[in-house]
Amino acid sequence: MDKHYYYQNSVQCVEAEIDFVESTYQDLKGVPARKLREDFCGTAQTACEWVGRDENNLAWGIDLDVLVLDWGHHNNLAELTPHQKQRIKLLNEDVMKASIHQLDIVLAMNFSYFIFMERELMIRYFKNVKKSLQTNGVFFLDAFGGYEAPKELVEERACDGFTYIWEQATFNPINSQMQCYIHFVTDEGVRMDKAFDYYWRLWTLPEITEMLLTAGFKTAEVYWEGTDEKTGEGDGVYSQSKIGTADAGWVCYIVAEK
Ligand SMILES: C[S@@+](CC[C@H](N)C(=O)[O-])C[C@H]1O[C@@H](n2cnc3c(N)ncnc32)[C@H](O)[C@@H]1O
Repeated sequence: MDKHYYYQNSVQCVEAEIDFVESTYQDLKGVPARKLREDFCGTAQTACEWVGRDENNLAWGIDLDVLVLDWGHHNNLAELTPHQKQRIKLLNEDVMKASIHQLDIVLAMNFSYFIFMERELMIRYFKNVKKSLQTNGVFFLDAFGGYEAPKELVEERACDGFTYIWEQATFNPINSQMQCYIHFVTDEGVRMDKAFDYYWRLWTLPEITEMLLTAGFKTAEVYWEGTDEKTGEGDGVYSQSKIGTADAGWVCYIVAEK
C-alpha cells in the first residue's frame, strides 16, 4: 500500500483549491498571480497543478521531509511536461527559514500550520511568509472547526477502491491540542493504520486572523463556503464573509494581503 497515493485520492482536491486561489488573487489584485510557494507541500500536488495552469506560472514546494519530496518527484513531477518541470522546484527546508522571496502567493493548506502550538511561534511563521511576498502578495491558508472538531471521534468515507478513516483520537481542552490520525482500508480488507499522524493545536478563526494582523498583514479575511439549497450541504463556492454557520464541521479559507 502506498500511503501517498491514498492520501492524494482522498484528502486533496488541488484543482478546486487552485481555482479558488487563482480567481481570488485576480479579483483582489486585478492581475494574474505567477509565482507561488506551497509551504508544507508534501507530495507537491498543488504546486504541480499551478505550473500546469499557465506557461508563465512558477512554483516552489517546501517540506522538511525528504522522503515525501522524493515521492512527489517520482510520481507528480514525473508526470509534468519538460517545460512544466523547468518551472517547479522542491526544497527540503523548514518553512520558518524558507528562502524563496518576491512571491505573489504563499499557500499553507490542509491545516499544516496547526503544528505551531504557541502564538509567538505562529506569528514568527506568519512574519516570514509576509517577508517572502512581493508588495502585492497574498497568503492563503485553510482552517477547520465546528462543534465536532474538538470531539474524540472516528469518521469513515468511501473512496475509489478504499476507505478513508479520519480519527480525532484525543483532544485536551486545556491547551486545545489534539492527536489525529488517517487510516486507510482497501476494499479487499487490507488495513494501513496510522498512515498519517498529526499533533495539532485547534486554533479558532479569530485567533488566526488576529495573529495574521499582528504579523503585519494588511487584511485577514475569512472566505466561507456557500450552501447548496437543494442538499443543504456546502456548494464549494467560498466568499468573503463576516458571519459563518454553527455547523458540526466546516472548512474555510483565510486570505491575508501583505
Ligand atoms: C498535513 S501535511 C500537508 C501536505 C500537503 N501540503 C497537503 O496539502 O496535503 C504536512 C506536511 O508538512 C511538513 N512539515 C511539517 N513541519 C514543517 C516545517 N517546519 N517546514 C516544512 N515542512 C514541514 C510535513 O513533512 C508534511 O509533509
